[in-house]
Amino acid sequence: MSTKIRRIGILTGGGDCPGLNAVIRAVAKTAIHHYGLEVVGIMDGFGGMIKNKSMILQDHHVSGILHRGGTILGTTNRDNPFRYPVGQENEKTIWGDVSDHAIANLAKMGIDALVVVGGDGSLSIAYELFQKGVPVVGIPKTIDNDLSATDLTFGFDTALTTATEAIDKLHTTAESHHRVMLLEVMGRNAGWIALHSGTAGGGDVILIPEIPFTYEAICRKIAERRQRGKKFSIVVVAEGAKLPDGKLVYQEKVPDNPHHDKLGGVANVIGSTIQQQCQVETRVTILGHLQRGGTPTPFDRILGTRFGVKAVKLIMEQQFGSMACLCRNEILSVPLNEAVKEQKLVRPDSELVQAAKAVGISFGD
Ligand code: F6P
Repeated sequence: MSTKIRRIGILTGGGDCPGLNAVIRAVAKTAIHHYGLEVVGIMDGFGGMIKNKSMILQDHHVSGILHRGGTILGTTNRDNPFRYPVGQENEKTIWGDVSDHAIANLAKMGIDALVVVGGDGSLSIAYELFQKGVPVVGIPKTIDNDLSATDLTFGFDTALTTATEAIDKLHTTAESHHRVMLLEVMGRNAGWIALHSGTAGGGDVILIPEIPFTYEAICRKIAERRQRGKKFSIVVVAEGAKLPDGKLVYQEKVPDNPHHDKLGGVANVIGSTIQQQCQVETRVTILGHLQRGGTPTPFDRILGTRFGVKAVKLIMEQQFGSMACLCRNEILSVPLNEAVKEQKLVRPDSELVQAAKAVGISFGD
């Protein structure tokens, strides 16, 4: 059965990333000018669907935002309509399914089809909504680049650029002080940001979750560089890198919601162990949310624009339950369930890892 599309909704869910505004602009402009539709912006991700918070998006709302980081619609990684806090008992949160209520709000907003811009969490929710009959299409977003079914997500290139600039800056001070400088980058339990920025920035050691490391191998690399007269080294560490005993390091653990455990600080542990075991002076920088902010790179603006245009096209073709994706530089679509089926991790035998090794980068293995 086909639905007559007059008004579409868009929401941005999960952690923000550079390029979201480029997507919102592309969706709104394509819908308004190319297809003569109305566009509703839902505020603060699925939170706005649950709390019925939205605004009509007109051309002037999305004009002048292409170069701006963040999202004009707001976002959250908390409000899952299928697992929403509905009360407290004995200081424990009671979780409930408020998806029917959220879907009813979509009808109140007069939305005929919905664009969800998100990472694996938001796109999984989008898929569940689709299974309940909501006409949804997805757009893949995350600085982590860990979504399968797309060659790249938007936001990754900007995060990578920020991380590479940080490595460039650390190089000069590392060299002056003959120190080992560690840079911890984001990426959850995928090593894409560390692998790419470490390679682009000429790091000496890259530690990623996908490749187990030993301190002996790191010290060997640092000592070998010293022998060659290179008295400094740069170590790029993914926040999800596992210590040799297999443990992860967290900033914070969230007892009743492990999905929200915050990784962070592994470079501090690795830095002090390297200092002790390799007898070198180390300093640690944790780049944190700087990687999520700022101006999107031209690449992310273009990718976001292409994804936005494609999402509206998918809606007009009634291809609900699908996600726009990048495949060998073409913008195509895949079923949402394929996109969220498994996390895309770095393959230790991949061409980029091998190339990095060939130019002398150690992965601590
Ligand atoms: O998924 C994007 C990301 O930036 C991860 O790289 C990081 O682990 C996490 O989000 C941080 O989330 P929050 O902003 O909730 O601290």
